[in-house]
Amino acid sequence: MSGTVFSGVQPTGDLHLGNYLGAIKNWIALQDQYDCIFSVVDMHAITQFQDPAALRDSTRKVAATYIAAGIDPDKALLFVQSQVPAHAELAWIFNCVARIGWLNRMTQFKDKAGKNREKASAGLYVYPNLMAADILLYKATHVPVGEDQKQHLELTRDIAQKFNTDFGSEFFPLPEPLIMGAATRVMSLKDGTKKMGKSDPSAASRIDLTDSVDEIAKKIRKARTDPDPLPGAVEGLSERPEARNLVSIFAALSGQTAEQVLGRHEGEQFSTFKADLTELAVGVLVPIGDEVARLTDDASGIDKILSQGAERARALSEPILREVHDIVGFLRA
Ligand code: TYM
Repeated sequence: MSGTVFSGVQPTGDLHLGNYLGAIKNWIALQDQYDCIFSVVDMHAITQFQDPAALRDSTRKVAATYIAAGIDPDKALLFVQSQVPAHAELAWIFNCVARIGWLNRMTQFKDKAGKNREKASAGLYVYPNLMAADILLYKATHVPVGEDQKQHLELTRDIAQKFNTDFGSEFFPLPEPLIMGAATRVMSLKDGTKKMGKSDPSAASRIDLTDSVDEIAKKIRKARTDPDPLPGAVEGLSERPEARNLVSIFAALSGQTAEQVLGRHEGEQFSTFKADLTELAVGVLVPIGDEVARLTDDASGIDKILSQGAERARALSEPILREVHDIVGFLRA
C-alpha cells in the first residue's frame, strides 16, 4: 500500500480511551505502510476558549502521548499545526470554496455550539474547512479517525471535488476515511448512548490515558451495565448499549473482534468480565501514562522534536500551497 496518511487530535485537555482506540492506536501500524503525518491541532482547539498556559501544556502532552503510544518521530512526521502557517492560508481559500449550506449540516458544530449559536466563535463554524486544509495541504489519501469525524471527512472530499471542478484541475485527491478497529465509537461509561468525550462533566464517564491503576479500576467497576450475563454472539448486544461498549473496548484493547471476546466470555457476569477488562486496560494504558509523564518532564526535548517536525511540514506544504496559489490566480511574490 502507498499514500499519505494525515490525522490529528485537539489539545483540549487529557486524552481519553476513545481518542486512543478510535484514533491513535490505529496510527501505529500505518507508520510502516504509508507516509504518515500526525499533528497536534492547536488551531482547532482555540475555536473554543483555551487558557494559554493550559494550551501549551496540553499541546506538549498530546505530542508526548503520540510518542508514548508508539509513534516514532523518525518514521512519522509529528508537528504542531500553528507552527505551519500554510494550514491557515489554505483554510482561507477553502472558506471560499465550501458552501454555507454544507457547514450548516455539520452535527459537531450543532453539538458544540449548543443552544447559544449566536455566541459560538466564527472559528467553530468554519472549523471543518481548516480540517480539510490540514488533510489536503499534504494531498493526504487516507485519514484514520473515529466514527465521529466521518461527516468532516465527507466535507473534505466535497471541498476537494469542488476545488478540482471549479478550477478544472485534478489537483487534490479525495481522501478516504480509515475508521478502524473494534471500537470506532467508544461510549460514555455512564451512558451507553452518549459518546465518551473530553467535555462530559463527569470524569467517571471516561478513562483518561493518564489515569492511575486505582482510577481505572474504580471507573470500570462503577461503569453502568445491565443485570444479564454476556451473550455468546454480537446480536445479543443490540439492545444493550453499555454491554456492547464494554465488549468493544475489551476487543479493541486486546486486538480481537467482539465475536471472539464473546466466544471466550459467554455467560459471564459483569463482575467477572469487568475484573478481566480492568486487568487488560491497566496493562495497556498505565505504561502509556507513565511514559507521557516521563516525556513531559522534559519539555525542551518535546519542543525540539516538534520544531524539527514543523520544519519538515513547512518544507512539504509550501510547494503545494504555491501551486494552489497559481491555480487560484494569485500573483507570485
Ligand atoms: P478530536 O480531537 O475530537 O479527537 C481525536 C480523535 O479521537 C477520535 N475520538 C473517538 N473515537 C472513538 N470514540 C470516541 N468516543 C472518540 N472521541 C474522539 C476522533 O474521531 C479523532 O479521530 N476534528 C478532529 C481533529 C482534526 C483532524 C484533522 C483529524 C483536525 N484536523 C485532520 C483528522 C484529520 C477532532 O476534533 O478530533
